[in-house]
Amino acid sequence: MARKKLIAANWKMYKTPDETRAFLRDFLPLVAGHDRDEIVVCPSYVDLAAGVEAAKGSNVAVGAQNVHWKSEGAFTGEISAPMLLSVGVTHVIIGHSERRQYFGETDDTVNLRLKAALESGLTPICCVGEVLEEREAGLTDDVLRRQCVRAFHAISAKKAAKLVIAYEPVWAIGTGKTATPELAADAHAVIRREAKEAFGEEFAARLRILYGGSVKPENAAALMAQEEIDGALVGGASLDPKSFAAIVEY
Ligand code: PGA
Repeated sequence: MARKKLIAANWKMYKTPDETRAFLRDFLPLVAGHDRDEIVVCPSYVDLAAGVEAAKGSNVAVGAQNVHWKSEGAFTGEISAPMLLSVGVTHVIIGHSERRQYFGETDDTVNLRLKAALESGLTPICCVGEVLEEREAGLTDDVLRRQCVRAFHAISAKKAAKLVIAYEPVWAIGTGKTATPELAADAHAVIRREAKEAFGEEFAARLRILYGGSVKPENAAALMAQEEIDGALVGGASLDPKSFAAIVEY
């Protein structure tokens, strides 16, 4: 079954609103008319409104980098799905390894955030992936299965319809070390089996699983050639319009 690939930029804590507008001014003409893949840019919160405005009417959607599970409340520093929707955001990254590593994100909070995103109509890009020690200890499949089972907990196939997963081996993020296409494809197959367990065969066949971790213009084509890889979540190489456009056009 053909799955439309999704190529997403994760800008992390880079770029101001002016820089966001400048990026899109240069980037949009480079990908104008590109409809083979879905394109999403995920800037920081203060850039979201500028990004939505600058991308209006284009083939580029705007996503956030996190979302809280409550729609409002005393949660200093957090942001809610209704707030994101109110400025025109359509996608959201959830459970990125940097959130898990540095900000105490757990499998359980990932599940809460995922439920809230799906409930609100946002398209979640839910990140999973093993750290180096886990890979070296032969625990990769166990870790992926655990992260998926907990992330999918108490979510129905119907509710999960928009779900997108990103497999990001933590040892490949920002390190220049990319997983080989075969290694990534193996991990994706584990994730797809878990999705089949949770949501059924038809859902699993339609589920898009992105690869993330040092994706660059030079390795994008080989990764995207894998049948199991349905797109990319790109950090460092997405900050420059030409580089991100080259990845989109792989
Ligand atoms: P990277 O980051 O492309 O810079 O490795 C990917 C990510 O963290 O999503």
